[in-house]
Amino acid sequence: MKKLLVGFLTGCLMVTVAWLSGATSVEAADKKLVIACGSGDNRSQDCVQHAREWGDKNGFEVELFVNPQATNDALGLFQQIFAAKSSEIDIVMIDVIWPGLLHKHFIDLRDYIPADHINAHFKSIVDNNTSPDGRVVAIPFFTAAGIMYYRTDLLEKYGHQRPETWEELTAVAKDILSKESANNSKLVGYVWQGKPYEGLTCDAIEWLDSYNAGNVVNSKGEITINNPNAVKALSMAASWMGTITPDSVLNYAEEDARGTFQSGNAIFMRNWPYAYKLGNNEDSPIRGKFDVMPIPKGTKDGKFTGTLGGWQLAVSKYSKNPEAAAKLVQHMTTKEYQLHRAIEHSLLPTRPDVYSDPELAAKQPLFVKLLDTFKNAAARPSNVTGKKYNRVSNKFWNAVHKVLTGKVGAEEALRDLEKDLERIKGRKW
Ligand code: GLC
Repeated sequence: MKKLLVGFLTGCLMVTVAWLSGATSVEAADKKLVIACGSGDNRSQDCVQHAREWGDKNGFEVELFVNPQATNDALGLFQQIFAAKSSEIDIVMIDVIWPGLLHKHFIDLRDYIPADHINAHFKSIVDNNTSPDGRVVAIPFFTAAGIMYYRTDLLEKYGHQRPETWEELTAVAKDILSKESANNSKLVGYVWQGKPYEGLTCDAIEWLDSYNAGNVVNSKGEITINNPNAVKALSMAASWMGTITPDSVLNYAEEDARGTFQSGNAIFMRNWPYAYKLGNNEDSPIRGKFDVMPIPKGTKDGKFTGTLGGWQLAVSKYSKNPEAAAKLVQHMTTKEYQLHRAIEHSLLPTRPDVYSDPELAAKQPLFVKLLDTFKNAAARPSNVTGKKYNRVSNKFWNAVHKVLTGKVGAEEALRDLEKDLERIKGRKW
């Protein structure tokens, strides 16, 4: 009898322990937040570290989800994760072109984040993060515009002013190349993002805009790409190939271009602001030898430009902790943290109060210099084409890539592209 009782009690105890440890592990899973904020580079490490400060105070373990580097590859992966309604990611850093594609997978952050925090960000970006049914699905994290990097030492050495038009840039690059190649056989004129992916769409939107050639689809949803200025813009880019731009650029993304420029082997580079801080790091061969300017004009009566980029933080609808995730997003988008990222990583703030902070002007003068470029950046047609944006961009970057490789002329490529886009549009976007 005694034995039976002991056996029974031990059994109960085991069940209780199992139940308790079960509960603990369920609780541990409940107390974890996974944030996808980059591809594992120093900016995403900084992001997760800052997120962990909040996690430590609020009893949450925070983990970084490392996503693919190319934005379109990251998009593909997130689309799969969301299609499966998976709760594996709580917070996602989303590209400025994604709200139209992904908004239905995100919660309305107005339910958890006070209006004054949301409205402390530039209205245009908040509007871009607002779904057609009026939900605020993401808070701006940092913004971006394409800019032109150039080697001040080389331009000075050969007596050149910074170029204002593409034609001038081409002439300056050719002249410096012909004179400087004896000192550096690896030197090339101009590097940018020529691989067939979203980065090429960004570069090509700048070429179009610099020639007043529109941005593929206008705000009314009309397909405008087949126009004479667009032919001029793409023909000009094709003319760089094998002259100021090596063919290898046709396989370059942002980091490839930065690698060439930062090791001192390019005179000009098109890139985003993040490359500014890295180029000025202590171990950088070009530290102090370069500056930035807006993307040149197509012709004298064209316009200086830069494509609008940037990233926001959204909370997945499938998260098990939407409230905590939203509070963490709030913590990631404060004035203090944006100032830190602007100074440490040259990432552009999305809050006017950071731009007016004297510390920013003192420590990151680049932003003050280029504020107009950022304010007037050219948007990709992601809002108007909504769910179809990715297909539109894919057709566009492939058409541009074909022109750059010399497979087809700009005129023919744009005529075909117009037809493809009409097919994708159907009766409406
Ligand atoms: C940058 C921009 C983003 C763009 C991407 C293209 O990350 O911020 O908007 O889509 O580059 O490669």
